[in-house]
Amino acid sequence: MSRPTVFVTRKLPAAVEARATRDYNARLNPDDRIYTADELIARAADVDAMLICTSEKITAALVGRLPARLKVISTFSVGYEHIDVAACRARGIVAANTPGAMTEATANIAMLLMLGAARRGYEAQQMVRRGEWHGWTSTMLLGVDFSGKRLGIFGMGRIGRAVAERARAFGLQIHYHNRHRLAAPEEQGAVFHDRLDDLLAVSDILSINAPSSPETRHILNAEAIARLPDGAIVVNTARGDMVDDEALIAALKAGRLRAAGLDVFAGEPQLNPAYLDLPTAYLLPHLGSATVETRDRMGFMALDNIDAVLQGLPAPYPL
Ligand code: DGY
Repeated sequence: MSRPTVFVTRKLPAAVEARATRDYNARLNPDDRIYTADELIARAADVDAMLICTSEKITAALVGRLPARLKVISTFSVGYEHIDVAACRARGIVAANTPGAMTEATANIAMLLMLGAARRGYEAQQMVRRGEWHGWTSTMLLGVDFSGKRLGIFGMGRIGRAVAERARAFGLQIHYHNRHRLAAPEEQGAVFHDRLDDLLAVSDILSINAPSSPETRHILNAEAIARLPDGAIVVNTARGDMVDDEALIAALKAGRLRAAGLDVFAGEPQLNPAYLDLPTAYLLPHLGSATVETRDRMGFMALDNIDAVLQGLPAPYPL
């Protein structure tokens, strides 16, 4: 009997591709070129499963053109805003993701962004590398401390809670807004705010950790920014489309906000060029899950989904 065919749409870590090749007739993408919708359809013509990334937009129109034999689309990500899950369901295709795989890595990047923004990491790097550091002074590149400050976490899922755990060790007081209030053992003393506006009003630092959805698009707009305390810091490790870039850039330029730490951008890898000129913007190129261990784990979980479905079992991480 011939082995099932799995279409891996992007280049993945060697250990993940090795497992895919060992177990399947794996159609890989060694050049890591992002395929157009037509190319995806052409390459998916005879496949049983697709292992995709967030770069592949699985719209209802695309789902309608996928082959009847395709049983599962497993994404190498926790975010799944790029998949029309209802359209997949309607076609009998299981859609699945990799929840929990990148919790630690992403929470660590949130702390890096917080520190980079609060302690002027970008300006400091520039000064050293440009040879503009002429010695210690008592007033050079002063940032702000964390202890006693309030960290507002928007979205208290796995990653939000992992950010809270780390931030407590830095002396930050934790506040949060979430669709549901957490149970006391998970809350760990964090202050719940039923309304996002109330959270914003107490967020000396705001960390965005909610999923992207039509409801959260531009949730941090000019109005929301106006509710933040003067000199607040904004950190985003979730999705760029949740921030209204023009509003954030204006607030940073005006000094209304002290700094921002951003790992994700609307339209990335393109980003609003005004960020590049802002010394108070500490910018990373979507590194949230970028560790060796995490990326392997994501790939293995994505393959676990495919293994299960192709064996006629439920996916372990269905959407
Ligand atoms: C995710 O898992 O959603 C990440 O953003 C991809 O690295």
